[in-house]
Amino acid sequence: MPSITLKAVEKWFGDAQVIKGVDLAIEEGEFVIFVGPSGCGKSTLLRMIAGLEETSRGQILIGDRDATAEPPSKRGLAMVFQSYALYPHMSVRDNVGFPLKSAGLPKTEIDAKVGEAARVLKLDAYMDRRPKDLSGGQRQRVAIGRSIVRDPTAFLFDEPLSNLDAALRVEMRYEIAKLHQTLKSTMIYVTHDQVEAMTLADRIVVLEFGKVAQVGSPRQLYEKPANLFVAQFIGSPRMNVVDAAAAPQVDLPPRASAFGVRPEHITLVDAGTGRIDGIVDVLEYLGADTFVIVSCGAIGQLTVRVSGSTSLRPGDAVGLRFEDEHMHVFDAKGLSLSVHSS
Ligand SMILES: Nc1ncnc2c1ncn2[C@@H]1O[C@H](COP(=O)(O)OP(=O)(O)O)[C@@H](O)[C@H]1O
Ligand SMILES: [Mg+2]
Repeated sequence: MPSITLKAVEKWFGDAQVIKGVDLAIEEGEFVIFVGPSGCGKSTLLRMIAGLEETSRGQILIGDRDATAEPPSKRGLAMVFQSYALYPHMSVRDNVGFPLKSAGLPKTEIDAKVGEAARVLKLDAYMDRRPKDLSGGQRQRVAIGRSIVRDPTAFLFDEPLSNLDAALRVEMRYEIAKLHQTLKSTMIYVTHDQVEAMTLADRIVVLEFGKVAQVGSPRQLYEKPANLFVAQFIGSPRMNVVDAAAAPQVDLPPRASAFGVRPEHITLVDAGTGRIDGIVDVLEYLGADTFVIVSCGAIGQLTVRVSGSTSLRPGDAVGLRFEDEHMHVFDAKGLSLSVHSS
């Protein structure tokens, strides 16, 4: 039985439709990420699942129970907020046990559940500390500990890392990945950052203006993006897209309107020996890679990822070579012909 099911879910704020009919079945234990640009409806959809936002149309099932009209407290889900909202004057132990104490559970039961959460989250050594004496990662684990003791059906996260600096974000991403490995709970996680989505998710749901653009594993989205939006949203630097009319020398199927090639799938060769010719415009040296931005006349600028460094200089003439298997072909509506015709 799926853990959480959305059936033709819609959200209207007055006359504005923000969620436009979303169907999705999230399996028990799955780590699902909603990703998309700012304003596409990620938070709204998550808040509808949590019960913090009313569902205008459609149904939300938790297990096989219709939860559409249930208040948040009845849904058995834990929303982990960006600010961890720990009680600063309380120890880790008391922070984790707080919901159980508020619910009036006997002390022995509280101790047992808090002990179990501490063990799972590796908080044993910090139980008597105050939140201010913990690292960011440890604080988040305490906040999650406070949710775990309530034994939620699923954890919901809304951009938990977006306010952190780059180094801490990487550390916390690791913490969250470990947490999912340990807890094996259903997790729904919202982010606008495709790297977070790619690294953490079992399945990614790409949202575009309140609609699902594609659902799939990180690898499926990278290898077989269903449309131009997903093709350019997943992957960094983003996929090069070339208008078919601008590149008559590249053979394309009849209905093709554009094709895409990722920067890592283009090789720089001598001018005249590739499929497209161009002039090196800018070199972005990053250490492990160099991004070479090549001006290709009517085609525009294409980015090529070169491993390590390169002796090329701005102004050099180059050829761009890529294999058919790495080309993504799109029709006039932006749908992938490679995905939709196979
Ligand atoms: N309470 C509200 N009233 C009216 N419009 C809202 C409300 N909350 C969100 N919206 C609108 O819904 C759209 C989606 O918002 P949101 O779900 O916050 O996007 P995301 O989390 O993907 O950035 C936006 O256009 C936003 O302005
Ligand atoms: Mg949001």
